[in-house]
Amino acid sequence: VQMTDMPQMVAIYNGMGGGAAGAIAAVVLLRGEYGDDLGLKFLAILGGLIGSVAFSGSIVAFAKLQGLMTGRPIQFPGQKILNVLVLVAALGLVVALLPQESPLLILVFFVVVLSFGVLMTLPIGGGDMPVAVSLFNALTGLAVGFEGFAIGNAALIVAGTVVGAAGTLLTLLMAKAMNRSLWSVLVGGFGVEQETAQIKGSIRSIDLEDAVVMLGYASRVIFVPGYGMAVAQAQHKLREVADVLESKGIRVDYAIHPVAGRMPGHMNVLLAEAGVAYEKLHDLEDINPDFPQADVAVVIGANDVVNPAAHRKGSPLYGMPILDVDKAKNAIVIKRGQGKGFAGVENELFFADNTRMLYGDAQSVLGQLVQSLKKL
Ligand code: TAP
Repeated sequence: VQMTDMPQMVAIYNGMGGGAAGAIAAVVLLRGEYGDDLGLKFLAILGGLIGSVAFSGSIVAFAKLQGLMTGRPIQFPGQKILNVLVLVAALGLVVALLPQESPLLILVFFVVVLSFGVLMTLPIGGGDMPVAVSLFNALTGLAVGFEGFAIGNAALIVAGTVVGAAGTLLTLLMAKAMNRSLWSVLVGGFGVEQETAQIKGSIRSIDLEDAVVMLGYASRVIFVPGYGMAVAQAQHKLREVADVLESKGIRVDYAIHPVAGRMPGHMNVLLAEAGVAYEKLHDLEDINPDFPQADVAVVIGANDVVNPAAHRKGSPLYGMPILDVDKAKNAIVIKRGQGKGFAGVENELFFADNTRMLYGDAQSVLGQLVQSLKKL
């Protein structure tokens, strides 16, 4: 599996874990394996609920990330009310199941909770899917832990609790990185505002020779890698460009957005693989104040994480912290063409006066830059 396809793989694995917990719950409930212990039965039902939601929600997340269905939010009138009603029905069924042993009721319970997983994931939009996947991971852990109690299996309790705790922390960190509250993930409707603003300005390109001059005579350059660098596997060529610039006395830094690429730490892993020193990687809070001092910020296949539209109410990206490339003296954006980012939103940075597009595959453009910079 390609590194860039990891999120959907994680989603399907989460789903399998949740589905397994749901299946254990179904067997425990149908066989009545809890005896007279209503506490155990409650845990089995709760695990069944959480695991099934994680299962069906993860399947939808997988389908969205894999491009099997639209990655954009799917919305319809009355959706939030329907979601709340289905959730209330699911909780009502938890209570109703406790004193009874009706296979029909168990069946209805699973249909309702599986539907809830689908319904809650449909309105979640592209850029916010990582938070949802991480949440399903945490839920899967919880469900497995509960089923461990229900069937008296210590290994499941330990494994489930560890995954649940770690997953919860990761979810909270990612929600913070995206500036979203967990509650808004749960009720859905992320990234659903419609674009209203007309972007002013026009997109201008730069040719390789001019980009070489701009970079070669800079005193400070900040590289901003994104998903496109991963697709192009351009990290090694990027390192070579940085080496040439540094040999000319130019200060080089790398700005890493917490959700750049498709996995937490995606950019860090790739740049470490290319031998970039750890101290040169800076996270968002540390590097943002430095952009106004940068002569050139070079964006390599990043899009959403540098989109100033995130500052504007009404944008699907509104509220997400971004790297302030628009504040640099000059920006060069390396990408293949007019492709949009993961969230499917037009990027206002590309229309800015001080931005120039350098079109091409990131690896080949950076390769040409190395050659030309060496000759400068
Ligand atoms: P994106 O917004 O996905 O944009 C990537 C850009 O790379 C595209 O606009 C594309 O434009 C360009 N590109 C693709 N292949 C290229 C190539 N071979 N050479 C050069 N450019 C290429 O990337 P980002 O800024 O890194 O943002 C990440 C997005 O993914 C966020 O919305 C984030 O929420 C989401 N996400 C993140 C994660 C985590 S945890 N990191 C997980 C899942 C989703 P062209 O087609 O024009 O080349």
